[in-house]
Amino acid sequence: MLRIADLEFSSPLVLAPLAGYSDLPFRLLCQRCGAGFVVTEMVSCHGLVYRQANTLRLLDSDADEGPLAIQLFGADPVAMGEAAVLAAERRPAMIDINMGCPVRKVTRRGAGAALMTTPQLAAEIISAVVARAALPVTVKMRSGRDQGSITAPEFAAMAESCGAAAVIVHARTWGQGFSGQIDPEVIAAVKRRVTIPVIGNGDVLCPEDARKMMADTGCDGVMIGRGALGNPWIFAGQAKPQSLTEIATMAADHLALIERFLPAERLVGHVKGQLARYFKGFSGSAQFRAELMATANLDQLRQLVANAIDSEQTSS
Ligand SMILES: Cc1cc2nc3c(=O)[nH]c(=O)nc-3n(C[C@H](O)[C@H](O)[C@H](O)COP(=O)(O)O)c2cc1C
Repeated sequence: MLRIADLEFSSPLVLAPLAGYSDLPFRLLCQRCGAGFVVTEMVSCHGLVYRQANTLRLLDSDADEGPLAIQLFGADPVAMGEAAVLAAERRPAMIDINMGCPVRKVTRRGAGAALMTTPQLAAEIISAVVARAALPVTVKMRSGRDQGSITAPEFAAMAESCGAAAVIVHARTWGQGFSGQIDPEVIAAVKRRVTIPVIGNGDVLCPEDARKMMADTGCDGVMIGRGALGNPWIFAGQAKPQSLTEIATMAADHLALIERFLPAERLVGHVKGQLARYFKGFSGSAQFRAELMATANLDQLRQLVANAIDSEQTSS
């Protein structure tokens, strides 16, 4: 059972923050499939403090939504504290602080993974968010700056001493970005170093990978990012189905949630990209994806997915 502060989650498998993907529809779908908690896309503390419309939209939630963490990023302790107050007004279960993003737009301002090289500033940010949020605060980090500087264990200990309720460790260095191998030993070393829960992250593509990460490292939970795209079944502990009907039914559910919560007509290209991820890995899938990408509007897209559900039912 995954517990963070006084919260208890139904599953140790949680959805990662994914800019451009972990929006409300996808989070709801992953929760239906069993995700223990879900995390928003990263939210700029300055965008929140200045109440920018595009930033506020990232905080949209729904009464049906289960445990949610709002993820904040920034490098200014005062603005991060202020943003934590505003985020907490949305009544999430937790606030997560991004100390792992390697994207230059984020790190050149000293935020994201760059904070692993400025632990004093990171400590001020964590303390400010903990003091002002009145909610459990988690910290998502990398292994360290590079292979020569694996600092996650002491960084996690610092986070714990500043009041973090859990840490999430993406077991790659900042320098690795998203390539190369993860090093599960770093997660194990963090687990040995702190008493707060540790959530492991990186390259979990199937339920067996998650079980292995927990067994190998002793971590309390596993955060899944890319492995959940087009594959929310992973949260149910299931392999991705092979049947076109089952796949298309999930894609249709995702599409219905997108149409309910997002201005889908304006996002057709993005919606097609999201749905195409479901239709991979079965015979004829390349052809199906090409047809999907060729649809001109939502009506055609909805029809194509509905036909896919029916085609197998009528042929079987
Ligand atoms: C498209 C994309 C967007 C991401 N956005 C965020 C983000 O907003 N905040 C964050 O902390 N990490 C972000 N990440 C990193 C993931 O949360 C995760 O740490 C990383 O992808 C490793 O896990 P995985 O191998 O399960 O995908 C993003 C990753 C991807 C691929």
